[in-house]
Amino acid sequence: MKNKCIISSPATVANLVCGFDILGLCLSEPADKMEIKLLNEKKIIVHSADGYPLPEDPALNTAGAPLLEMINDLNASIGFEVLIHKNIKPGSGAGSSAASAAGAVVGANHLLGNIFDKKQLIQYAMFGEKVASGVKHADNVAPCIYGGVTLIRSISPLDIIPLPAPDLYTTLVHPQIEIRTADARAVLRQQIDLKNAIKQWGNIAGLVAGIIQNDVELIGRSLEDYIIEPVRSKLIPGFDELKKKCLDAGALGGGISGSGPSIFMLSKDEATARKVEQEMKNIYLNLGIDFRTYVSKINKEGARIIDSQ
Ligand code: HSE
Repeated sequence: MKNKCIISSPATVANLVCGFDILGLCLSEPADKMEIKLLNEKKIIVHSADGYPLPEDPALNTAGAPLLEMINDLNASIGFEVLIHKNIKPGSGAGSSAASAAGAVVGANHLLGNIFDKKQLIQYAMFGEKVASGVKHADNVAPCIYGGVTLIRSISPLDIIPLPAPDLYTTLVHPQIEIRTADARAVLRQQIDLKNAIKQWGNIAGLVAGIIQNDVELIGRSLEDYIIEPVRSKLIPGFDELKKKCLDAGALGGGISGSGPSIFMLSKDEATARKVEQEMKNIYLNLGIDFRTYVSKINKEGARIIDSQ
């Protein structure tokens, strides 16, 4: 039996603009690296390799909470020690908490001989999301575990539909300001206008159809959000100008990544994705806000074991 493994757990884009809480996509970059060790006592220990302060109580930690649930379900005296090298900044909107939660359960499952299926791993990983944002949502952990694009038709009961991942390039910009998911959820209205709802579900259906039919133009024109983005975009400096410039540069479409402040765009080819990246850089250089950008293909694999001993 293996007792130690290293996992690469990637960033994800929740919502995919129009699909609040029900759609997500897996990126290739950035990704966290996690080392997981099997312990022979019922205990969970989580450390940060980068000095980022983590709650000592594993129940309050996004990697620890899913593992506590997992070992409580097992009739054995085992536990896990996790070391996290965080490359996806918390509060970035790029699925940082999901990468910790999903990476932890994927690694633990590998050390246990793959006794859980992906759906069970998502159930466990959602306990990490609850710690991070107060609610269980699967639109980051599901694409992180499955790779590609996932539709979460329901979380209770859990009903996940992995969709074929289009061969598109993603450009992500992370302006270095922090927006807590809980805060970005608190600003949302609880009632929505029927006219906007009709446009929104047209877009969700269009996006899913575009993904299944590999119709990139349909994907692009479905990436419009009439409900969440008008509220949340006010929290992100430069959002409207950035979106316009990226579309002018040839991006198919895009918007806020998860709860922000990161913004993502999809492009048909790498040259366009790089042009889009340059537009993003120009905006944040002009605004004097520090930022990071990432250009990568949609990640079809999700969190993966890169070493195991
Ligand atoms: N669907 C969630 C939200 C994702 O937008 O609040 C958070 O990363």
